[in-house]
Amino acid sequence: MLILGIETSCDETSVAVVRDGREKLACATRTQVEIHRLYGGVVPEIASRAHAESISQLTAMALSEAGVGLSDLDAVAVTAWPGLIGALLVGVGFAKGLAAAADLPLVPVHHLRGHIAANYLAYPELKPPFLCLVVSGGHTSLVHVEDYTVCRTLGRTRDDAAGECFDKVARVLGLPYPGGVALDQLGREGNPHAFAFPHAAVAGAPLDFSFSGLKTAAINHLHNLEQKGDSVHKADFAASLMEGVAEALISRMELAARETGAPVLALAGGVSANSVLRRKAEALAARLGLPLCLPPLSLCGDNAAMIAAQGFYEWQAGNLADASLNALAVRDIAE
Ligand code: KG4
Ligand code: ZN
Repeated sequence: MLILGIETSCDETSVAVVRDGREKLACATRTQVEIHRLYGGVVPEIASRAHAESISQLTAMALSEAGVGLSDLDAVAVTAWPGLIGALLVGVGFAKGLAAAADLPLVPVHHLRGHIAANYLAYPELKPPFLCLVVSGGHTSLVHVEDYTVCRTLGRTRDDAAGECFDKVARVLGLPYPGGVALDQLGREGNPHAFAFPHAAVAGAPLDFSFSGLKTAAINHLHNLEQKGDSVHKADFAASLMEGVAEALISRMELAARETGAPVLALAGGVSANSVLRRKAEALAARLGLPLCLPPLSLCGDNAAMIAAQGFYEWQAGNLADASLNALAVRDIAE
């Protein structure tokens, strides 16, 4: 079963060909970070236009790299939700056209289920159930993956996502977009205990996260120093921020792992590339005596291979769409 995957939910245009949900034959990705860096963040209108300019060419590149033609494909899978609506619409419109022209089934895929499925590409033996910490620019949740298309959210952020917190503090620190990547590089040289960034607990919801207090405390600290004409030790600040955020994430994951008795742990999403988080996840897995799946760095950020992988399981479950498919900016992972 060969599936062509399409991803345009944010600032990466990506097209991939995946066999049976597990084997990546090709993945052609073009990132827009250089364009958005000029503005310090993603500009939705510009993202949509850049997707439209690249998508046909990337499709041709992915098919050629995989050594297949349209007639060899069995389905077209596309990120239909959640994401920037204009950006999603470019992929959904293109996928609908392609599916109609090649007479193929159309499979809508939830972006976060796609991030989770990056692990199926990297770990051929991985099967649900497992516990996955999904951490991206827009989302932070602890998900119990009960089956390939059955996800239950155990905890979620009440305000900012972890990636958003990194990106916003990094911007005040004068680092280029996307800030999480820059912080990770800078923080390698720093002392993670130089600054204390306490993480708020959410009353009555021990598995939920809240990062807005931590983010505001970090930004206020930087502004206070600036007003006094003092400078901050950027590497120590970056290392301490990552320590605070990663500890908040992993402490909830530990609680959820103990509560659910999940047999396997996994990370997913752009922030799962973070070196501090990966180290802490490895330590947690060792403490609990559980196997851990960490997507390779190439599959942490947005890519279409993960969409095609999840598309295989959505197709198997009969979750297909017709030409009336519409993109949605917001949709729960359990829907
Ligand atoms: O999953 P993703 O590519 O896009 C969304 O679906 O949101 O995640 C992007 C996020 C950004 O906030 C970016 O700063 C963060 O992932 N990120 C990182 C690292 N690499 C990417 N954050 C911390 N450390 C990294 N190494
Ligand atoms: Zn993503």
